[in-house]
Amino acid sequence: MNIYATVVLAAGKGTRMRSALPKVLHPLAGAPLLAHVLKAIEDFPLSFPSLDTRPFSHRPVVVLGHGAAQIEAGFAERCLYALQDEQLGTGHALLAAQAVVEALHPVPQTVLVCYGDMPLIRSETLARVLGEHLTQQATITFLTAYTQQPSDFGRVVRDASGHVREIVEVRRATEEQKRINEINSGVYCFDRQWLWPTLQALPRNSAGEYYLTDLIAIASTQGRAIMTVQGTIDETIGVNDRVQLAASEQVLRRRILERHMYSGVTIVDPATTYIDDDVRIGRDTVILPSTMISGKTTIGTNCRLGPGTVIEQSVLGDGCIVRTSMLEEAVLEDDVTVGPFSHCRPGAHLAHGVRMGNFAEVKNSYVGTQTDMHHFSYLGDATVGEHVNIGAGTITCNYDGVRKNHTAIGAHAFIGSDTLLVAPVTVGERAHTGAGAVVRHDVPPGALVVGVPARFLRMVESPEHASVEDGQ
Ligand code: UD1
Ligand code: CA
Repeated sequence: MNIYATVVLAAGKGTRMRSALPKVLHPLAGAPLLAHVLKAIEDFPLSFPSLDTRPFSHRPVVVLGHGAAQIEAGFAERCLYALQDEQLGTGHALLAAQAVVEALHPVPQTVLVCYGDMPLIRSETLARVLGEHLTQQATITFLTAYTQQPSDFGRVVRDASGHVREIVEVRRATEEQKRINEINSGVYCFDRQWLWPTLQALPRNSAGEYYLTDLIAIASTQGRAIMTVQGTIDETIGVNDRVQLAASEQVLRRRILERHMYSGVTIVDPATTYIDDDVRIGRDTVILPSTMISGKTTIGTNCRLGPGTVIEQSVLGDGCIVRTSMLEEAVLEDDVTVGPFSHCRPGAHLAHGVRMGNFAEVKNSYVGTQTDMHHFSYLGDATVGEHVNIGAGTITCNYDGVRKNHTAIGAHAFIGSDTLLVAPVTVGERAHTGAGAVVRHDVPPGALVVGVPARFLRMVESPEHASVEDGQ
């Protein structure tokens, strides 16, 4: 079996970001830069369907320096860590991982290296580099790309017969070399036995650093086998500053949208639709313009979301409609409709068939099956049964200035327009409240209460018999 180790270099300061946050923690499509790189590495075995003996990898080794504690706290068990005390260049950073890599069992023959600031790299591409490296039994295999704007990438210098001679960093490149449009993407496979002694002997270059890229010239001089694999420039974008961060965001978002479209989701206007990487969406759901779906959100089939809708970290069943509204950490079962202009805050759970209309807010509340709350109302810290009518302007007065108190509304209750439910309070099943009632005491099942403060008026049989405003 082919054993390899992956090393991700992430110790750099990220000076060009001009940020207090370590560069690899800057978010991209809802997850830190480093998380995207790790995901590509972790999904990697899936990219080898055709190989009989799939290569085996250990957990990635991440080299940390600047902001080490913060990064390690965020990724914990997901990786192994090595520390580069002083940031003396990418070659020096890789050497810092030697002890951790050498302590792995079984010992890897191949070390795959990538940078923590290349979030667009795809598993298939890593697999291609490793596959080529193993097949050719090369000393070094690295990923290159062609571009008309090689900007600050290292240039790949080849000789007349096309053999790689070196990688020249732009700072040290001649004018002629600067015009080379084959660039170093920043993914490498090394033969471990050659790598460590060569890295240890690597001299400081004129920039006062140890460049990983200088290994290429050394291998070339020694007549070692150096292979290259060609990738596309978009997955190579290295995020050095916030302009590149935005450019990566655009590429990644497009990729995410296309993934959903190919799997059966209609996205009417990709230019104004923002979907995070971890979002899952069922078939035949339609997403209308100016809609943003973030976090670990799951959406069922046949939903209609937008225009102008924001959904964060929520779960939606099938057939939901959410128009020009906001959902945060909410759960909507099947066939729920929300909006326009409504807000579900954390802990809102709308059961099957709930209809929540305009200017309504639900927070930390369960709203039972087929309940209606069509206009201007607030439910906070409440439990509402099924088939309840919440009249226009109903408010749960859940906060007494010290505590949040609970409101319970039984099934088939009928809350008249402009009712204030002063929590803690319980409205029994099939009970009614009159328009403008201020309910300070529990209402028995089937009773009608009216007035300020609300008083018992009589028993009611069914909603049809109630002589109250229904607010519909
Ligand atoms: C590097 C390559 C360049 C390539 C480009 C691709 C070198 C010398 N140059 O340049 O050929 O075209 O990436 O994006 O490798 N890091 C450390 N410790 C250090 C220095 C850097 O861990 O001492 C890490 C950084 O955190 C970063 C990565 O290595 O994640 C790359 O470093 P960076 O300074 O961004 O290199 P580039 O100038 O982009
Ligand atoms: Ca970089």
